[in-house]
Amino acid sequence: MFERFRTQRTDEGTRLQFRETFLRAADFILPLFIVSGFRQCREISGLPGVNYYSADMLQQALAPLIKMGLQSVLLFPVPDSKGIEATYSEHGLVQQASRVLKIAYPGLELISDVCLCAYTVDGHCHIGDNDNTCRLLARIAVSHAAAGVDIVAPSDMMDGRVWFIRQALTESGYATTKIMAYAAKYASNFYGPFRAASQCGLASGADRKTYQMDYCNSNQALAEIAADVAEGADQIIVKPALSYLDIIARAKTNCALSLVAYNVSGEYLMLKNAITQGVVAPDAVNETLIAMKRAGATRIISYFTPEILLNMQI
Ligand code: PBG
Repeated sequence: MFERFRTQRTDEGTRLQFRETFLRAADFILPLFIVSGFRQCREISGLPGVNYYSADMLQQALAPLIKMGLQSVLLFPVPDSKGIEATYSEHGLVQQASRVLKIAYPGLELISDVCLCAYTVDGHCHIGDNDNTCRLLARIAVSHAAAGVDIVAPSDMMDGRVWFIRQALTESGYATTKIMAYAAKYASNFYGPFRAASQCGLASGADRKTYQMDYCNSNQALAEIAADVAEGADQIIVKPALSYLDIIARAKTNCALSLVAYNVSGEYLMLKNAITQGVVAPDAVNETLIAMKRAGATRIISYFTPEILLNMQI
């Protein structure tokens, strides 16, 4: 006696009936790199297929994706010059872009990355002291909320930032603004293309290992996640995603909150290059993103979002 599994795979229609995991447009969060100026739409040299946009270009750029069901974007600033004041200014890049998008697409969920690294001279995500950095991050988060951001996403990995941000939002009248915490963010080699794109690279020899997590650890990720949940996070991010599917799976079984996987720039570029070189078939993109959902992610932040949405059957 043996089981006949192959009856579940005889043709595509049958395989579809037995399929357990799907990608939906609503699963995807599109990262957007915002620059100053007008009519700016330039491809990022180290990230083929990904553009810099000035705020005035966003409505036009997103129109085809909104039509295909895009529901959520994640905003990153790429300022012309360094200096902390611009992070919380109402004229800051994220603040401007948020106001434009809120008017153009009121139903679009706006998520903002809350960090300092694009603005600090040394490229670090802090200004030295942990708690003072948290106070600054809270001020940035409030300025984003005031500009219409629905969800703030602190990516700095300071201790207690979610608590500081939650307090500040409540005190400033933004009690319903959500926090999507980069709870388990590892000191990864896969952020290289993003750092070049957002000009937040560190001096040679410097790293972010005193705040981002050691990639040898897994139990610690659960402790980080539990702390962020206790401090008031509404959703949590595991980052990177592809080499961290075990962390996503463990987070899923240990945390009831919505879990977001960040398919980071290095993962994107590796796969993109392999496809361009003909080393792997283009369907590897689908396979990779499905793996993140199969592991337990509710949603995925990915630079593949445009190509996935534009190729989706509706
Ligand atoms: C900034 C930040 C980084 C990324 C997202 N936010 C860089 C870093 O922490 O070093 C990486 C995203 C990517 O690689 O796609 N704190």
